[in-house]
Amino acid sequence: MIQPPDYVLGIQPYVPGKPLEELERELGISNSIKLASNENPVGPSPAAIKALQDSFADLNRYPDGAGYYLKQTLAAKLGVSEDELILGNGSNELLDIAVRTFMKAGDAAVMAVPSFVVYAMAVQAVGGRSVQVPLKDFTHDLAAMAAAITPETKMLFIANPNNPTGTINRKAEFDALMNRVTPDMLVVLDEAYFEYVTEADYADSMKYLRSDKNILVLRTFSKIYGLAGLRIGYGMGKKEILNNMNRIREPFNTNAVAQKAALAALGDDDHVRRSREVNEAGKKYLYKELDSIGFRYVPTHANFIYMPVEDAMTIYHELLKKGVIIRPMGPKAIRVTIGLPEENFRFIDALRDVKK
Ligand SMILES: Cc1ncc(COP(=O)(O)O)c(C=O)c1O
Repeated sequence: MIQPPDYVLGIQPYVPGKPLEELERELGISNSIKLASNENPVGPSPAAIKALQDSFADLNRYPDGAGYYLKQTLAAKLGVSEDELILGNGSNELLDIAVRTFMKAGDAAVMAVPSFVVYAMAVQAVGGRSVQVPLKDFTHDLAAMAAAITPETKMLFIANPNNPTGTINRKAEFDALMNRVTPDMLVVLDEAYFEYVTEADYADSMKYLRSDKNILVLRTFSKIYGLAGLRIGYGMGKKEILNNMNRIREPFNTNAVAQKAALAALGDDDHVRRSREVNEAGKKYLYKELDSIGFRYVPTHANFIYMPVEDAMTIYHELLKKGVIIRPMGPKAIRVTIGLPEENFRFIDALRDVKK
């Protein structure tokens, strides 16, 4: 039987969760709520839904492979040019394309742990080596990450805010890291939760698009724009970097309806504002209740909260029985997505009955 290379055998395939309906049937529950994947509980923008409906009749056509209109609108909004933008089937695909473009077997990539698991998976898929630097105070330790750079380092990943801890890196520490990166490596700054951040000292990725450093900034329509199911995200970088990624990108990687919905969502400032407000109010409520029942948590800059606990799997299963789905993060932490007011209430109500 044909066998893949050893480095492919070393990858643990992603195990998707069961559909909600199936889980409810198995547990004999109904009305469960999912606070496990950092989705926007408000839903998609109504303008995006309308744009989707209007685009169905053209599904016999291939998508616009260049994403002309979406890139034009993004470029104007972000103050970059269209050739400094690349679209992806989720920002996840762009992570993967970047790794396949710039790394070969034996090269190294520096990343934090715990952080977004896809970085290590993408690196492993090309036979690369992940150098994992532990978080400090639940935050990327950028000084230690800079110290981990060697001549083999081709990429360095930063999730800002970090998933799963919700912490951010600030301007001065980020500038210090950028001073240490070498001309033959790429920094990937993953800003999937960018639109939730309100902190003024949040590291400024955009200024490095104009510097001599190699940087790729990734954002997504999956989070505050509420379009996770459509799979669309974008990257910003110097055109030479993106030209190389376009060698690997498949011609029609983002689908036609996703492009239309994303374009409409970009114009719906009301929806983004409402989503941010719901998140801020939910965050305040959860902090207050967690303080009062005595659970620890890490203050967040995103739409989820990381909670160090004694026994994550027991809490996960106890909450599941009450129809509240959260995410265990290893044996000693859970992560909960901030939901609608009634969802946050259900989570707290269920958590009260669970031992810490
Ligand atoms: C830090 C981070 N980056 C990237 C992604 C991928 O997002 P998408 O592929 O939906 O754009 C996620 C999704 O959870 C994430 O948490």
